[in-house]
Amino acid sequence: MLKSTSPSLGMPLTLSRVPRLPSSSSVPGVVSCSDILATAARNLVTMVGGPYYRVRLGRKDGLVSNASLVQGNIAQPTMPLSDIISLFDSKGFSVQEMVALVGAHTIGFSHCKEFSHRLFNFSKTSKTDPAYYPKYAEGLMKLCANYTKDPTMSAYNDVMTPGKFDNMYYKNLQRGLGLLTTDQALSVDRRTKPFVDLYAANETAFFEAFAHAMRKS
Ligand code: HEM
Repeated sequence: MLKSTSPSLGMPLTLSRVPRLPSSSSVPGVVSCSDILATAARNLVTMVGGPYYRVRLGRKDGLVSNASLVQGNIAQPTMPLSDIISLFDSKGFSVQEMVALVGAHTIGFSHCKEFSHRLFNFSKTSKTDPAYYPKYAEGLMKLCANYTKDPTMSAYNDVMTPGKFDNMYYKNLQRGLGLLTTDQALSVDRRTKPFVDLYAANETAFFEAFAHAMRKS
């Protein structure tokens, strides 16, 4: 049994009856670990109010798992948006699909170290990132005041409706309530802003785009 509890969602996610899989690349005619993860992700999205989509099955698990290969293959919140766009492009995702996928930040949380540079000694002229809505920055500063001593301190990615999969993430970005540097950048950059505005105004368009992009992954 694989069990994980996400405090941000307030409910335990239990995957029971997951078959024990050998460590080979695939289980002929059965299922791969990768397929199970993709299906579990879809189930969670649907359970918390997001779209249902059919997961395409048949992934094969890799034979190599090497921590050093991770860096450079996943987006970091400190990356310039151009690098994020290139990274997603290299995986076959357009700018619009990337903006839709990051909408997953409508749930879950981030540890203070991921955004603390926006709160403390941001620049010579401003202690906090001026892109933050001031009261939001104040709250985050209080929350993260002791994060070096307690590295588990975290904030909701979507401060308004943290446990609901909806389009609030994009509405937040328009109001300076984007938690990570990359979140906030999406609502400013001319390549991504039109999609932020579209998904903030139209939840159905977001759900369709998210489901479509997730089915590609
Ligand atoms: C611009 C690209 C992205 C960046 C820079 C980014 C960065 C991050 C960071 C730094 C965290 C916090 C991790 C932690 O403190 O434990 C996070 C959390 C999360 N991200 Fe992303 N992410 C990106 C795209 C995505 C995408 C494409 C998805 C899914 C389709 C996604 C889903 C999530 C979820 C669900 C969480 C919350 C995890 C939890 O509550 O434990 N992110 N992301």
